[in-house]
Amino acid sequence: MGALSQNTAILLAITICWALTVCDAVVSIPAGPLKSRNCTEHLNSLKDSSGKIAGDETWIPKCDADGTYADTQMKRKSGLKFCVSKDGNILVAPQRSLSACDCPRKRFEKFQTGNFDGYIHRCDTDFTYAVLQFNPLTNATLCLMKEGDVIEAYSGPQIVACKCPRTWYEAKTSPLPDRYTPQCHPDGTFKLIQCHRGRGCWCANSEGEQISKILPETQADRLPCQ
Ligand SMILES: *[C@@H]1O[C@H](CO)[C@@H](O)[C@H](O)[C@H]1NC(C)=O
Ligand SMILES: *[C@@H]1O[C@H](CO)[C@@H](O)[C@H](O)[C@H]1NC(C)=O
Repeated sequence: MGALSQNTAILLAITICWALTVCDAVVSIPAGPLKSRNCTEHLNSLKDSSGKIAGDETWIPKCDADGTYADTQMKRKSGLKFCVSKDGNILVAPQRSLSACDCPRKRFEKFQTGNFDGYIHRCDTDFTYAVLQFNPLTNATLCLMKEGDVIEAYSGPQIVACKCPRTWYEAKTSPLPDRYTPQCHPDGTFKLIQCHRGRGCWCANSEGEQISKILPETQADRLPCQ
């Protein structure tokens, strides 16, 4: 894609993004003209004839095997991480709490290509995937794990909340035996009564927090959950 049409696509994308009100402020779409750099060539340009890089160089780019930029980069002195696109545009400025760059890059690539599949991924404040993603084209809500895996059992137009599904999925896929698995309604909300087999039952609020004493499972019907 030429530079001009690429910029046009991004302007268009930002307009669509506003129209759908699915933008979050966290991940910035680069404002000025996009540059396109080859990471391997960038890295080589920093090396002197003996292959050494000057000690005061603030950023030594990390490249993938195909010569594009790795999504997560690090400032040399501060150790702060930041996110870049494949062609080296900064998507998230250096941060203290940055665990992953998958989501910012996915968002950017959707803007860049203009291919939205109905929606643009929302990222959390730690830049992992936001748990709840809404697709305005299908009116379906998807629940996502931090790494972007879709929780298929809790995705569809009936979903209104995703906290319970994410905790449920974490517990279900955990190697730890006998882990408490929260019970969710089909719409993704927490059931009022939560039970841990062999340990008893209690009342939970809408955030899944325990708000009553624990009774044996056989006495669960005496719990004042509402
Ligand atoms: C980047 O440059 C290297 C060396 O010139 C080349 O081998 C590689 O294919 C290039 N990669 C991309 C994505 O342009
Ligand atoms: C999504 O919901 C809106 C508002 O309720 C409705 O107008 C639209 O037809 C729905 N779209 C689909 C694909 O169901």
